[in-house]
Amino acid sequence: MFSVLNHPTIVFSGSSNPALAEATCNYLNLELGKAEISRFPDGEKHIRLESDVRGRDVYIIQSTCTPVDENLMELLIFLDCVRRASAARITAVIPYFGYARQDRKDAGRVPITAKLTANIITSAGADRVLALDMHAKQLQGFFDIPLDHLTAEPVLVKYLKQKRIGDLTVVAPDVGNMKTASSYASALGAELAIIHKRRLTGQEVLCEEIIGSIEGRNVVMVDDLISTAGTIAGAAHMVKDRGGKKIVVGATHGVFAGPAIERLTEAPIDEVFVTDTIPIREEVYSLKNLKVLTVAPLVGEAMRRIHSNESISTMFRKFGQL
Ligand code: R5P
Repeated sequence: MFSVLNHPTIVFSGSSNPALAEATCNYLNLELGKAEISRFPDGEKHIRLESDVRGRDVYIIQSTCTPVDENLMELLIFLDCVRRASAARITAVIPYFGYARQDRKDAGRVPITAKLTANIITSAGADRVLALDMHAKQLQGFFDIPLDHLTAEPVLVKYLKQKRIGDLTVVAPDVGNMKTASSYASALGAELAIIHKRRLTGQEVLCEEIIGSIEGRNVVMVDDLISTAGTIAGAAHMVKDRGGKKIVVGATHGVFAGPAIERLTEAPIDEVFVTDTIPIREEVYSLKNLKVLTVAPLVGEAMRRIHSNESISTMFRKFGQL
């Protein structure tokens, strides 16, 4: 059986999230591999590895966040580059996996871009993928190579526990979030409520009803991502209208697209927390009480375990100790 235990590890960072790559390497006590990422005069990207990867167990950390096409293309070029330089095994570490929401044909004559993205990452040379809170768990099946799917839940739960919020209700901002909300509610010893949301367009949602009691309760809502913030801001307004007190909202991925900052500022939200899977733009810091939590130890520990053929699932039992 193939083993990489005797193959030294080398980690490269793409340009999308160098801070997270650096922090992950710090956790692993490794120096980042060296690569020159440049452009041809016409804008095409070019990568040249300065570190030797022959026979190595290689990890490329690249979030496919905005600009999605550019970051995705850079990941593909990186994979091709490392494969042609004779790495023993290549893992694409994708803390934020873009295009995940186009995961089925929800109308006629539309693509399934999540599947296309999985295909091209595999064709470019990835032997494995490590991803975090992809939009839907079934995306794991879109890859025909091993995929380790992490959740930032231990990081977020730990943070929320430290806040010691009393009279707490965890609200699922939509039906798709129900399982996640229920898991947070039991971890935090909180009550559970659910909002029935209808998406009108890519940017507009309508919160139609709330099931569960909110009056006089403090509320936490955690989503996989905050994009235009239509979901979370709409839910916050509804919770406030129904007598909710303090409202704390969070997500693994802070995309903050389009009207997100404006919506979050106007909504009755006391605090927003996200992780560093996507670098936070300067304008996002205008949000009062924004908290950014790092997933570097989580990602680093998973990489260490992949390298040494240890279980990833058991790490979630132990993660509180990291
Ligand atoms: C929906 O299914 C997702 O879990 C998020 O709630 C949604 O994608 C967030 O998007 P937005 O912030 O644009 O409402």
